[in-house]
Amino acid sequence: MARVAVVTGGTRGIGHAISIALKEAGYTVAANYAGNDEAAAKFKEETGIPVYKWSVASFAECQEGLATIEAELGPIDVVVNNAGITRDATLHRMTLEQWTQVIDTDLNSMFNMTRPVIEGMRARGFGRIISISSINGQKGQIGQANYSAAKAGVIGFTKAIAQENASKGITANVIAPGYINTEMVAAVPEAVLQKIIGTIPVGRLGEGSEIARAVAFLAADEAGFITGSTLTINGGQYIAG
Ligand code: CAA
Repeated sequence: MARVAVVTGGTRGIGHAISIALKEAGYTVAANYAGNDEAAAKFKEETGIPVYKWSVASFAECQEGLATIEAELGPIDVVVNNAGITRDATLHRMTLEQWTQVIDTDLNSMFNMTRPVIEGMRARGFGRIISISSINGQKGQIGQANYSAAKAGVIGFTKAIAQENASKGITANVIAPGYINTEMVAAVPEAVLQKIIGTIPVGRLGEGSEIARAVAFLAADEAGFITGSTLTINGGQYIAG
């Protein structure tokens, strides 16, 4: 039977490309989304991938959503923690709400999404936890103390659970994308964005599909010896050690 994969934020942006890539690789995919019903309906119609609405910032909603997916599609083998938001502001202008929203959605979601599935994965002896961090979690970024902190946290979380679960056939890895051609990046002020593109040696934004193929690579049964790693995909903008 096909393995079941859940992609958070799976109907738009990088997640859209990940959902499609996993479906093409033979997975039964469930795409979670939080708010944009219109985009989700269009995605479902175009791809045939079922969509599930809840906020990854809520542990209770993750428990319920994941239980629904397991009841409908079967035990979850692959979790792709992709959903994320930005609330950019320099720290001296940042509100507590901007801080908290980003930490809840981009970092607390790691616990909220992984805790409910980890015991089942351990019992079955197989699992893949693939989490999307960011170049800005690796190098820090003006205007993103909240996002940089959350995305750096994704890496620490993954290193810990990689060690805890290695003996149970479960791998945990991070992909750290650079600036990808999505609505999130399009929201960066144009002058700032042009400045950023000027610092990318490859000379362009990345595409969602260029992240998605790495997710499919890490999800594969054959990738069982890769765990605790961070794969940097950023056009050479920041070459992490
Ligand atoms: N890279 C380089 N320089 C940057 C920068 C960046 N990402 N962000 C801001 N700056 C520079 C500006 O160009 C400007 O420089 P000059 O004074 O030389 O023109 C200076 O910092 C101050 O910027 P602003 O005039 O825009 O100041 P502001 O207070 O109005 O806004 C800001 C500050 C909120 C940080 C705004 O500049 C901004 O939104 N910047 C983009 C931040 C960013 O890169 N966000 C990434 C979003 S995409 C994403 O997060 C996906 C991912 O994982 C990569």
